Amino acid sequence: MYPNQVIGMEDIGIGFSSGQLWQETRSATMSILKELGVGKTVLQERIQEDIEFLLERLVKLGGQETDIWHLVNLSVSNVICSIVAGERFDYSDKQFNDGIMHANQLASCAKEVAALNFLPILRHLPGDLLKKKRIQEAVQGLKRFAEFCCRDGNDENAPGAGKQKESFAACFRRRQREKLASGTVALLDEENLKKTVMDLIGAGTEATLSTITWCVLYLLHNPHVQVKIHEEMDREIGFGRKPTLADKTKLPYLQAVIKETQRLANVTPFSIMRVTREDVTVGDYFIPKGTGVIPNLDTVLHNPDIWGADANQFRPARFLNADGTVRNPEEFIPFSIGRRNCPGTGLAQMELFLFLASMLQRFEFVLPNGRALPTLEETFGLLAVPANFKVCCVDRFAETT
Ligand code: HEM
Repeated sequence: MYPNQVIGMEDIGIGFSSGQLWQETRSATMSILKELGVGKTVLQERIQEDIEFLLERLVKLGGQETDIWHLVNLSVSNVICSIVAGERFDYSDKQFNDGIMHANQLASCAKEVAALNFLPILRHLPGDLLKKKRIQEAVQGLKRFAEFCCRDGNDENAPGAGKQKESFAACFRRRQREKLASGTVALLDEENLKKTVMDLIGAGTEATLSTITWCVLYLLHNPHVQVKIHEEMDREIGFGRKPTLADKTKLPYLQAVIKETQRLANVTPFSIMRVTREDVTVGDYFIPKGTGVIPNLDTVLHNPDIWGADANQFRPARFLNADGTVRNPEEFIPFSIGRRNCPGTGLAQMELFLFLASMLQRFEFVLPNGRALPTLEETFGLLAVPANFKVCCVDRFAETT
């Protein structure tokens, strides 16, 4: 977790704020995401455009081995960036690529810099052993990108003006004006908007990207699972059209695979560090006011008392009922629980389903010839991400023509 003041991350926005500012920002964020189409066809179409780009790039590789991380990253990032900025970025756009690079850097250096939360004196160490400087640069870089995404689309001199659809920033500003007009103190100001956009870009990319990549990795380790997904996909959808959200109920096995990936990979094992606002007692433990608390989702998602002795194995069938429908156990909490649970859950679920359904309709993911199975050990930064690995994406459409 970040030592916010040391790295120049302000306690505004949504992920690292508290009290009334957090409440207003979170409530505005959730209603804007809904307004912009989370769960609806209009947003599905935006997501499908970015999936199309990914599929094309993967097809062009002609089945050669590749590390899919970077290409998936571009597409997943463009989804959240297009929501906040109101327009999709060209994949070669320098600002977009810099923004993504800084978001990646912020996530990957979190482990080292977190030590400063517990031993602040370490900030005086010479050099950049704890990656404080790298992360400060990443914060500034992401801030610049967030400012660019928030530029006012009504300003005809702004780059890209006129091309924009309704954006997160425009909706946020409208709420700000409404609050001011009603005489309420506006906590939804410009600084808060920029920091919220930074939070959405940071949080809205890495976790979804990691989950998609973990899923492909698990499929390399469990080819029989991939065969079953393809059977279901070919039977229910075939090759003639794109998968849509309306297909969810027809693809229970794929849904179970996505849930099992989220459970086992648990990409946000330590959720976000919070501080108790008052004395609390949890079970046998007394926690005084002002204590930093890090919820450990592993204790639920990997608990053998809940999932059985094979809790550490990849077994999608645990999310299926006897009649083949999807099970939704209350202990399935990859998005955490309570008032600070993930506000991006709806968007993430849309993305996971549409990306993975489309990727699996189009490709068979195969271990490159002569390569050993990649490790399932995670690399831990802010999130638990899979170590780099290579995969061949074999075009299933080419086989049918
Ligand atoms: C598979 C994808 C995702 C997973 C597993 C995930 C998981 C989580 C978790 C565990 C938390 C911490 C909750 C807590 O502190 O108790 C969180 C917070 C957050 N997530 Fe996500 N998330 C995902 C995708 C997204 C997306 C797509 C967005 C953007 C719309 C997003 C935005 C946020 C924000 C802004 C917070 C901070 C919320 C607050 O402090 O009130 N997340 N997420």
